[in-house]
Amino acid sequence: MTKPECRSATGASTHAEHGKRVAAMFGRIAGWYDFLNHALSGGQDIYWRYRLAKAARPASGETLLDLAAGTMDVSVELLRQYPDCKVAALDFALPMLENGKAKKLKGGREDAIFPVQADGRALPLPDESMGAATIAFGIRNILPREDAYREFFRVLKPGARLCILEFGTGSKRVWKGVYNFYLDKLLPFIGDRISGDPGAYRYLAETIKTFPDERALAREMVDAGFERVYHVPMMSGIVYLHVGEKPAAGE
Ligand SMILES: C[S@@+](CC[C@H](N)C(=O)[O-])C[C@H]1O[C@@H](n2cnc3c(N)ncnc32)[C@H](O)[C@@H]1O
Repeated sequence: MTKPECRSATGASTHAEHGKRVAAMFGRIAGWYDFLNHALSGGQDIYWRYRLAKAARPASGETLLDLAAGTMDVSVELLRQYPDCKVAALDFALPMLENGKAKKLKGGREDAIFPVQADGRALPLPDESMGAATIAFGIRNILPREDAYREFFRVLKPGARLCILEFGTGSKRVWKGVYNFYLDKLLPFIGDRISGDPGAYRYLAETIKTFPDERALAREMVDAGFERVYHVPMMSGIVYLHVGEKPAAGE
């Protein structure tokens, strides 16, 4: 009997199959994604993305990678904070990118964000071409994560930052109970009723619970070659911002 290649919350036994299932799932919920995001986080997601973009700190005029861009909220925020940069918004679920298309017009620089359908495990970008990279609520969907880190490292310029926004486990006891109730009951209930995809928000809860904690994620970034790695808890550890730098040339 062949051993499954991966243990995925989608039930897929290979990484390729996992990717297909994740892309299809986000494709199905794309129309509801923004509404549910803001509703389920009580609007906090806007602040989280602001902090993510702030941490990117690119030099002026750079091209920035926003991987797992989805409906491009992070891409738009990057452009708002760094108006002289461009953003490559990459995601493998085309309906997600399409649902965010109208946002590209914000600020009147439609051509400054270019959406591309692509898999984060094999980026269609040249080596050392990006002035910073972000990924919001995307890294936990990618298996194996090492492939994504390797690609981030390859396409970033020396000294450029990788900034990751991801759910944490909720550090304080009182929060943990509320958070678990939210993940186990409320999220699947609301997700099922509204998005019409019975599995999608259960998958979301499952991936959050099985995701490595903030220290393990920091270790993964260091193992991938990033330095000056740090993380910042938000909302009592329910969300973490992780930052690392590709070593500068000559280091
Ligand atoms: C939870 S959404 C996050 C979207 C956006 N970053 C945000 O902050 O709202 C996760 C996104 O990751 C994308 N994704 C997951 N695995 C991916 C992969 N291997 N390559 C590219 N995109 C991927 C999904 O298609 C989905 O749009």
